[in-house]
Amino acid sequence: MDSPVPYYPVNEFGPLMKGLVIGGVGIFHVFLAQFAIGGGMLLYYFERLGQRGVPDARTFVDSTFKVLVLVSFVVGALSGVAMWFTTIQVGARTIGLMIDEFHWLWATEWVWFGIEISAGYAFYRFGPTLDHKARRRLLAIYAIASWMSLFWINGILAWQLTPGRWLEGGGMWAGFFNPSFWPSLLFRTAVATTLAALVACIVINTMDLPRERKAALIRIASRFAVPMAVMPLLGMWFVAVIPADSRQWLMGGSMPMTMFVGVAAAASLLIGAYVVVGLVLKRLYINGATATLLLALAFGATAAGEFVREGARKPYTVRGVLYSTSITPAEVAALRIDGATKHDPYPLRDQARYPTPQLVHGAKVHRTLCDACHTLHGANAVVELTRTWTDDQLRLNISKLQRTKAFMPPFAGNAADVEAVVQLLRWEAAGTPARWPVSDDPATLAQIKTWLDEVGTSAAGEP
Ligand code: HEC
Repeated sequence: MDSPVPYYPVNEFGPLMKGLVIGGVGIFHVFLAQFAIGGGMLLYYFERLGQRGVPDARTFVDSTFKVLVLVSFVVGALSGVAMWFTTIQVGARTIGLMIDEFHWLWATEWVWFGIEISAGYAFYRFGPTLDHKARRRLLAIYAIASWMSLFWINGILAWQLTPGRWLEGGGMWAGFFNPSFWPSLLFRTAVATTLAALVACIVINTMDLPRERKAALIRIASRFAVPMAVMPLLGMWFVAVIPADSRQWLMGGSMPMTMFVGVAAAASLLIGAYVVVGLVLKRLYINGATATLLLALAFGATAAGEFVREGARKPYTVRGVLYSTSITPAEVAALRIDGATKHDPYPLRDQARYPTPQLVHGAKVHRTLCDACHTLHGANAVVELTRTWTDDQLRLNISKLQRTKAFMPPFAGNAADVEAVVQLLRWEAAGTPARWPVSDDPATLAQIKTWLDEVGTSAAGEP
C-alpha cells in the first residue's frame, strides 16, 4: 500500500448529496427512537397511576399507545440498521474510526438495546396476563434500557462534534464524556418525553371515553411535555460548548443554519408555551388535530435541530480528525503532491459519458473531494453555485477552498486536479457537449500551484 489514504467503494445517490441521504435517514431514526424512549417512561408512569387507582390509566397503557411505542421501537431499530447501511456507503472511514475508538461502549449500547427489545416484547406479549408488580417491573426495565441506549449512543455522536480532551490523548472516556455530552443528553431526553406527551394526547383523543375523563388523562400526559420549558436553556448550553467557529455560523455567519436554529427554537418554544400555559396552567383541552399539528411542529424542530448539529461539524465528520471527505488533515499535504485520485481504484459508474480523459479525471476528483457535500446539479449544486464565475475565479476559489467557505476542507489534490474539476464544471454548465478542449496550459497550472501553496493545507481558522 503506497496510497496515502484508504479508498472505499462509494455509492452515488443521484440528485441527493451523500450528506442529505444520511441526514434524512438519521432524522427519521432519531425521531422514532426518541419517541420510543419517552413512550417507555410515559407508559411506566401511567401504569403506576393506574395501579394506584387513577381511572382509565390502565386502559391507556393497554391501548394503541402501547402499540405505537412498540411500532416505533421496531421501526426505530430497523432505521438504525438503515443508518449502518448508509454510513458504510457514505462515510466508511468515519464509522470505522468510531468503531475503533468506541467498540466496547457500542457493544454496551447493544446490550441495553437487547434488554429494551426483550422487555418491550415481553410486555406486549404477556402484559395483560401479568400481575401488577411484574407489569411495573417490565415497563421500568423497558424505560430504563431504552434511555440507556440513548445515553451510550449520545456520547459517541457528541464526540464527533466536540472530541474535547480526547484530542490531547485523553482516551476513550474523555472522548465519551466530551463537552457536549450532558447538554445533548438532557436535550434529547426532554425531546423524548415531549414527543411521548404529544402522541399520548393524540391517542387519548381516539379513546372511547367521555370528554372529562379524556381531559383528565390529557392533563396527566401533558406533564411529560413540561421539560420542553427548559429546552431553550439546554439549547444555549449546547451552543456554548461547541467550537467557536461553529457557533459563529449558528449566530448569523451562515444564514441557512441561523434560520434553522431559529425555526427549531421557535417551534420548541411554541410547543412548550402551549403545553405549559394552555394544558398545565389553564387546563385547556387539546383535541387530536391540535396535538397532531404540535407533533408535526416537533418533527420540524427535530429535523432542523439535527440539520444544525450535522452542519455545525463541517468540514469535519470528526472534529479536528477527519474531514467530511474521509481524508485526515495530515494527509492533505501528501495528496497535494500525488493528486487526489492517483490511488483510487474504483471506476466511475458512467465513464462513457465524458468525452475526454481530463473530464473523467475531474469527475473522479469531484467524487473524492466534493460529493460528500455537493452534487453537480441537485442538492448544493456546485455547477449552479459557480455558473456565473469566470474560469480564473473558479480556479482561485477551488484552490483556496477553505478560504472560499470555512465549511469546506482544504483542497486535497494537486494543480491538475483543480483544473480537471474546473473543466468538469464548465463542461457541465455548457450542457455536456460532445467535444471539449483539453486544458493543459503550463502557465495556468503554475498559477493554480501558486494559489495552492499560498493557502496551505490547514483548515480555515487553524494554524
Ligand atoms: C464539508 C462539505 C463540503 C465539501 C467537502 C466541499 N464543499 Fe463546497 N461548499 C460547502 C458548503 C456548505 C457551501 C455553501 C453553500 C451555500 O452557501 O449555499 C459550499 C460552497 C461552495 C462553492 C460556492 C462558494 C461561494 O462563495 O458561493 C463552491 C464553488 C464550492 N463549494 C466548490 C466545492 C468544490 C469544487 C469542492 C471539492 C473540491 C467542495 N466545494 C467541497 C460544503 C462543502
